Amino acid sequence: MNRITTQIKVGARASFSIVHISDTHMTRADGRDDARKLELANARAVHFPKAESFLLDAAACARDIGAPLVHTGDLIDFVSFANLDFARQFCSQHDCFMAAGNHEFSLYVGEAFEDEAYRNQSLERVQGAFTNDIRFSSRLIGGVNFVAIDNSYYRIEREQLDRLRLEVKRGWPIVLAMHTPLHCERLYSYMMTEKKRPCAYLMATPEPLMADYPEYRLLQQQADSTTLEAVEIITSEPLIKVLLTGHLHADLESMLTPSLPQLVTGTRTVRIVQFT
Ligand SMILES: [Fe+2]
Repeated sequence: MNRITTQIKVGARASFSIVHISDTHMTRADGRDDARKLELANARAVHFPKAESFLLDAAACARDIGAPLVHTGDLIDFVSFANLDFARQFCSQHDCFMAAGNHEFSLYVGEAFEDEAYRNQSLERVQGAFTNDIRFSSRLIGGVNFVAIDNSYYRIEREQLDRLRLEVKRGWPIVLAMHTPLHCERLYSYMMTEKKRPCAYLMATPEPLMADYPEYRLLQQQADSTTLEAVEIITSEPLIKVLLTGHLHADLESMLTPSLPQLVTGTRTVRIVQFT
């Protein structure tokens, strides 16, 4: 497990830390689910063999320093009885503030175009395993407002944007916790040039930069007008101090504006974020 310490200035009353983790991808399934789910679990577990021990190590690290966990999604790889039982138990035993990732609502990984209708097939059941609203929540920690937004389908929806505006009006410094990172040159070139992916898996990538995306990925990752409005607020609102994100399964840091850092935390990393 990697351990990274990052310092962020937010104007906190007194310095404090949180532990940021992301993309655990638990792959549990048992006889309560069907054979297809058991096959999926076996196939997916190969990619995330130490998911549970990484998560428990992160929880131990958070407990040792007396900090809450902030998890930016994909705690589970797919919806199953055993995964949701595990998530419910974990969140009842640890202080874990959560933003949903796309996998939270995956019935079978990669089976369908993921949109609101697809998410709604499992939303109520999945939400029941977590302690805060995984689509939009806010929580004050040390005089800083942590706002979790589910942008895991590459979009921010109208109701989430309205609620973000209300959070800004409260006047606290804000830390945004979201699964999908916002587009920026650094992350785009990391995904496209260094990792040679067919698309960058970022929110609000400008259209010209998606010219060579496969059609499916273009449809998936194209920003709508509400998302662009949200990005405008996020990148111009001085109260928003930092973005905590995941989804790329890598540890990256970039600047969205000269004063707005974005941290991406990978599957095997505990990122201790010290706020001052
Ligand atoms: Fe993930």
